[in-house]
Amino acid sequence: MNVILFGPPGAGKGTQAAILAETYGLRKISTGDLLREAVRQGTPLGEQARRYMDAGELVPDDVILGLVREVVAGDTSSRGFILDGFPRTIRQAEALDRMLEEIGRPLDAVVVLDVDDETLVRRLSGRRTCASCGAVYNVNTGDAPVGGKCRRCGGELVQRSDDEPATIRRRLQVYREQTAPLLEYYGRSSVPVHTLDGDRSIAEVQADLKRVLSL
Ligand code: AP5
Repeated sequence: MNVILFGPPGAGKGTQAAILAETYGLRKISTGDLLREAVRQGTPLGEQARRYMDAGELVPDDVILGLVREVVAGDTSSRGFILDGFPRTIRQAEALDRMLEEIGRPLDAVVVLDVDDETLVRRLSGRRTCASCGAVYNVNTGDAPVGGKCRRCGGELVQRSDDEPATIRRRLQVYREQTAPLLEYYGRSSVPVHTLDGDRSIAEVQADLKRVLSL
């Protein structure tokens, strides 16, 4: 099962991908997580990516494709991929098609999480992430642990540097201008595209995802 989880910043892609990966032994490939890890480690790639991420702009396609190719080609054991935050441009989508063809693992579905801008801004402003294990919480839904420590590992909860209001606005604009046009690309392909209402509880969205993916 190879799936793209598609949607604007804050739609819940990472949250839903993590649950699916854990439940079904699928590999979650999040380009945002890969980039943040490179930034954390201070690698040259991370240094290059950081200024784009902090400005809410897309990291250049060549950088992203190098990262993804390494992960996809190196994965021989998982039961499939859940792509979270990739592809984001037509060039990335075309490169993905070629990569999957080369390794003989076709795309089974694109699932779009639909959420309005006002909700997205609220969610992103309230997001807190564990600095150690990457677990994601939200102060607005009451699920963030009291005391600011991660429930899973005790790590410190931090706010992502790109979750600040001006950067959130820019990320939403970049999504509309550069990423949303991909829906047309997949609409023309033979891959099924399912659009789900992402403005429901995490459990309701997950149940709907399982339904459309026949899991
Ligand atoms: P990336 O990390 O991919 O960020 P994004 O796409 O902006 O998505 P987010 O991680 O912000 O949101 P999400 O949809 O995963 O939501 P989440 O589940 O966390 O990219 C960051 C940057 O890296 C980009 O701006 C770019 O610079 C660069 N980049 C990454 N990939 C790239 C690529 N392919 N090409 C070029 N550049 C790239 O949920 C958000 C919050 O809401 C959480 O607090 C969560 O707890 C809460 N929440 C989730 N679901 C619900 C729900 N149903 N109800 C209530 N709250 C919910």
